[in-house]
Amino acid sequence: MSLQKLHLDFFQHLLSDRAIVDLQVRNDYSHDETEDLCFPPAIVLKPSSVEEITQIMCFCHEHEIPVTPAGARTGLSGGALSIHGGVLLSMEKFNRILEIDEKNHQVTTEPGVITQVLQNAVKEKGLFYPPDPASKGSCFIGGNVSENSGGPKAVKYGVTKDYVLNLEVVLPTGEVIWTGANVLKNATGYNLTQLIVGSEGTLAIITKIVLRLIPHPTTDMLMLVPFFDAQKACEAVAAIFQAGITPSGLEFMERDALLWTQDFTKDYSIKVADNHQAHLLIEVDGFDSEVLMQECEKILSVLEKFETDEILFAESEAQKNTLWSLRRKVGEAVKSQSIYKEEDTVVPRFELPQLLYHVKEIGKKYGFHSVCYGHAGDGNLHVNIIKGTLSDEQWENELPKAIRELFTEVVKLGGTLSGEHGIGLVQKSYMDIAFPEVTLNLMRSIKKVFDPKGILNAGKIFE
Ligand code: LAC
Ligand code: ZN
Repeated sequence: MSLQKLHLDFFQHLLSDRAIVDLQVRNDYSHDETEDLCFPPAIVLKPSSVEEITQIMCFCHEHEIPVTPAGARTGLSGGALSIHGGVLLSMEKFNRILEIDEKNHQVTTEPGVITQVLQNAVKEKGLFYPPDPASKGSCFIGGNVSENSGGPKAVKYGVTKDYVLNLEVVLPTGEVIWTGANVLKNATGYNLTQLIVGSEGTLAIITKIVLRLIPHPTTDMLMLVPFFDAQKACEAVAAIFQAGITPSGLEFMERDALLWTQDFTKDYSIKVADNHQAHLLIEVDGFDSEVLMQECEKILSVLEKFETDEILFAESEAQKNTLWSLRRKVGEAVKSQSIYKEEDTVVPRFELPQLLYHVKEIGKKYGFHSVCYGHAGDGNLHVNIIKGTLSDEQWENELPKAIRELFTEVVKLGGTLSGEHGIGLVQKSYMDIAFPEVTLNLMRSIKKVFDPKGILNAGKIFE
């Protein structure tokens, strides 16, 4: 939608140089990290107060102007793309941590704070905010709340939703509400807080976030385990938990994931032998090194039952950082290699070997190569489908059928479409695999209650 002069005058009067129509800026805000998708908005707005957002939403509601809220635009499902043009509402000016409440182990923050900045600020007080998406150095906490982000630590500490206590939001109609209370227990009415978490910017604009915190662990141990068979690596995952261990990270990387990332980072410090088909990166953390040693020994005795090569124990902080950095850069590395599509499949942990099997079988049937990696401990496998030598026709017309088959198998295994990247734009056509029409209609009805004119991030999650 293009803007009329009346609209433009309103925004420029309200925000002056924070209402931007410059083509270059609109192009900068036209994409997130999803594939190569690009949708320039008609205008970029950078409000800096709740009052300004209220006025913007009242005006847009009255004039039926589409609004797409955006954080740092690191998303992987197209959630922050202005597919209808209109207003791109950037939350980047909301970048203050408002209060670290040490007495109650809580933090109140604005949504435009970089997740790692928030983590470091609370760590200075000995406190821990665990959810750590791969993009933690650049993503915003508001985006994490909108997508219910996870990351490697989720396997022990849970995902974003497990930390959100209360939210201040501006509704699409302009009213400002708090969704809950700053308490650890709350049995008071419907849980609007958790309804907003993971709603991908379709229900309300988040302006303040209250998170619970926990004491920061003081020690950790990290090992990299090479497997001769990727399937066996997946089988080992559930076995570790069944032995009574909950690692603070249990990540899977297929052979190509590690090799491609080494090529991308030019860091070849980890030797990948010709017969290494996959690796597990396993971390334990806590407050007592001896306890961690015992946990590592238990893990080693589980791994004896699976054929592994020599296990690398990280000996220094630097080596731990190298290993984690390699793991965090897999996504970027794949992106730099080829046109690709990323699926964010998730199944009950024990079904992970079956999931990998189906990915590879469907790949054989449709002739695509895939690179798999991700949060094995959560049963959350990122499946990168590589375009490689596939024709445009195969990519556009055949691949969606392959993805449909894959999601169908995922759901049969008791899993679902996305563990942490969201549905956004690129997965919405598969929602019928996860939910029957009656459930989808309930979701559509909820959307209507919040946003009767359908102006806020319309066309995401479902039509
Ligand atoms: C990761 C992102 C892609 O785990 O979720 O690297
Ligand atoms: Zn991930």
